[in-house]
Amino acid sequence: MKNFESRVAVITGGASGIGLGMARAFAKRQMKLVIADLDQDAMSAAAAEFRGMNIDVVTKLCDVSRLEDVEALADYTMETYGAVHVLCNNAGVGIPTPTHKMKLQDWKWIIDVDLWGPIYGVQTFLPLIEQQEEGHINSTSSMAGLIAGRKMGAYNVAKHGVVALMATLERELRAKKSAVTASVLCPGPIKTNISSHSVEYRPENPDGTVQTPKHKSVKGQNTGDRMEAVMAEIGLDPDEVGEMVIDAIARDKFWVLTHPRWTKAIGNMLESMRADQSLTKA
Ligand SMILES: NC(=O)c1ccc[n+]([C@@H]2O[C@H](COP(=O)([O-])OP(=O)(O)OC[C@H]3O[C@@H](n4cnc5c(N)ncnc54)[C@H](O)[C@@H]3O)[C@@H](O)[C@H]2O)c1
Repeated sequence: MKNFESRVAVITGGASGIGLGMARAFAKRQMKLVIADLDQDAMSAAAAEFRGMNIDVVTKLCDVSRLEDVEALADYTMETYGAVHVLCNNAGVGIPTPTHKMKLQDWKWIIDVDLWGPIYGVQTFLPLIEQQEEGHINSTSSMAGLIAGRKMGAYNVAKHGVVALMATLERELRAKKSAVTASVLCPGPIKTNISSHSVEYRPENPDGTVQTPKHKSVKGQNTGDRMEAVMAEIGLDPDEVGEMVIDAIARDKFWVLTHPRWTKAIGNMLESMRADQSLTKA
């Protein structure tokens, strides 16, 4: 896809972090925006920023883990702009917990948001995007979609699934010579508030108790805070990631890797798989 001006982009999880970075990159190219998120205040702040730049923008409350919300997002986009060209399935959550200790409810929540969200996005939006003569679907996976590290079992499963979803889709689109292309974003550490947002969104037990005592302490020093401190130190700016995504769309790249040198670990893993079938460190 080469032309961006006046084209319509839908970004889930677009109110903050990487999604907001994508929205900023799209706004710079005069695209029309639909920002979808669970956080209305953050969406309103983002929309005000874009209106100040004379960009057409609307917001829509949407829980990507609910098919009816994703369908309503598509309806709203078509009612507002009459077309959709770019979809970014970006909303995501994650909580670090050893596999055997993760509650089934957390497995379900993370996979519902991180994997079913993009599946619903592709199912719902692809037929609409295909009506255009050009278009693109990007989904946000992670380095955790390429190599499975410790304590992120549900996140790793979901993000590996997102890579598989997008690779399958891109192969199918090329086989039928579609005007639509697909890509997958696999970020390393990016300076965002994903950890504290995830702690905030984590579902409660049916009895109303939050099941995360280890992730929240009375002093407010939670796992999210610690991870965000690491990200703030070594992470990339999400606006830089937004530029990488639009560059990949313009150049027909499938893989969007924010830390390409980290893929050495994947090479090492494949080498050990071939040589002695051992599992390397992630
Ligand atoms: N920050 C990183 O280091 C990093 C690394 C790899 C991958 N990622 C991925 O990048 C994506 C964006 O995360 P981020 O780091 O910008 O975090 P973020 O928390 O800043 O942004 C995520 C946004 O998604 C929204 N959201 C959460 N659950 C939702 C739901 N069910 N429906 C709709 N919106 C929802 C949040 O309100 C938030 O605005 C995620 O898919 C994440 O897994 C992030």
